[in-house]
Amino acid sequence: MTQSAHDLVITGSTGRLGGRVAHRLSTAGLGLRLLVRDPERAPALPQTDVIVAAYSDPDALDRALDGARTVFMVSAAETPDRVDQHRAFIDAAAAAGVQHVIYTSFFGAAADCTFTLGRDHWATEEHLRASGMGWTFLRDNLYLDFLPLIIGEDDVIRGPAADGRIAGVAIDDLADVATNVVRSAEKHAGMTYDLTGPEALSLADVAAILSRSTGRSIRYHDETVEEAYASRAPYGAPQWQLDAWVSTYTAAAAGELARVTTTVRELTGHEATSLEALLSA
Ligand SMILES: NC(=O)c1ccc[n+]([C@@H]2O[C@H](COP(=O)([O-])OP(=O)(O)OC[C@H]3O[C@@H](n4cnc5c(N)ncnc54)[C@H](OP(=O)(O)O)[C@@H]3O)[C@@H](O)[C@H]2O)c1
Repeated sequence: MTQSAHDLVITGSTGRLGGRVAHRLSTAGLGLRLLVRDPERAPALPQTDVIVAAYSDPDALDRALDGARTVFMVSAAETPDRVDQHRAFIDAAAAAGVQHVIYTSFFGAAADCTFTLGRDHWATEEHLRASGMGWTFLRDNLYLDFLPLIIGEDDVIRGPAADGRIAGVAIDDLADVATNVVRSAEKHAGMTYDLTGPEALSLADVAAILSRSTGRSIRYHDETVEEAYASRAPYGAPQWQLDAWVSTYTAAAAGELARVTTTVRELTGHEATSLEALLSA
């Protein structure tokens, strides 16, 4: 039984990216079907139906996706079975007759990319390519918004990135892109968009910019891979999580996050936000 008259489905709206996209689409006057895990935290928007369905719950998804046409699919939280959850969601969407899925992937997603979670995004993309539905992949570089969070308590940024560069991108820019793509999904069918900020920064550059914006003396320490695992060991995280954290830096060292694209400008009509501009906003 269809639970919503709205055929545009947005997932992840209780989060940073999906929440921004839902607000932008709603402001543009679109009716939305929000799939959430916790309805208490769903954004309160006009002309919006909130339906509870996690990627891991096929029964709920069958009902939640009934009658849906276009889906903005935010990648799930990092867990060892994330790809299985993504596949279950994609299978449910295809079975429900969804026409088009716009998926938030990661920059440089590939079966053998250095960033371990980029391989999960690749596996998800492959499942979507084989699904028979239309698809668009938004391959987001690292969030610029997160860079202040990698500063240690001693004002040192630690990681095995060497002098590798990162073309990080602001979440608001990603939301602008996603909003425009969702609004004219057919036009973007079969497209893979590599989304970056306006420049590629080394972590020494990042430390210098953060120092200027905070007035503190922040510096970058280039760890060896062994040092990186050792310095993160106290968190007690499982191996896959440690691998994901460390490989963010080794991906930068390998040059896999460095390419700057103009796709944000092309898809939004405005320049991508720099780290400096984001910090001073
Ligand atoms: N490019 C980057 O630097 C970067 C950084 C961080 C994350 N990411 C990826 O990009 C995604 C979006 O980023 P974000 O900043 O918006 O993350 P976020 O604020 O953590 O939001 C994630 C959203 O996805 C929902 N979600 C997570 N797992 C789910 C599942 N199994 N089934 C259904 N819904 C699920 C969450 O619901 P709840 O509120 O119920 O948890 C939340 O609404 C993340 O989920 C992550 O995969 C990318």
